Amino acid sequence: MLTPTISTFMASHHKECDEQFAKAEESVANDDWTQGGEQWNKFARELETHFTREEEILFPEFETVTGMTGGPTQMMRMEHQQMRALLDEINKAAQSKDKDQFLALTETLMVTMQQHNMKEEQILYPMIDQSLPSAVEIIERMRQN
Ligand SMILES: [Fe+2]
Ligand SMILES: [Fe+2]
Repeated sequence: MLTPTISTFMASHHKECDEQFAKAEESVANDDWTQGGEQWNKFARELETHFTREEEILFPEFETVTGMTGGPTQMMRMEHQQMRALLDEINKAAQSKDKDQFLALTETLMVTMQQHNMKEEQILYPMIDQSLPSAVEIIERMRQN
């Protein structure tokens, strides 16, 4: 079996989140708020799990090993906050079943998320792979989170 890397583990979680996001968006676009609402909540929980894994486990490991606390991880944390603010707005749109608002905001979130994930996958995760010696142990801790 191939040894897992931070890059592959995290990129595959990005993909899972993307797929869940697409399901929710499609259901709402088809006026199915019952399914769409559940799918949206599931996506929002999964994305928050992802952010928490990064902020509480992965980034601190990287910051400790490299001493880089004000660099790329700081920027990623800020972008997580921007996306959390968007999630709040989208939750409100979902609660009031405002389809136009929901779809406009999810479009914005999708673009923000794609750009964010691309930066992580192309720049940050490869840096992390090179800096951290024991990916297996860190991945195990993130899985339990
Ligand atoms: Fe992130
Ligand atoms: Fe990420």
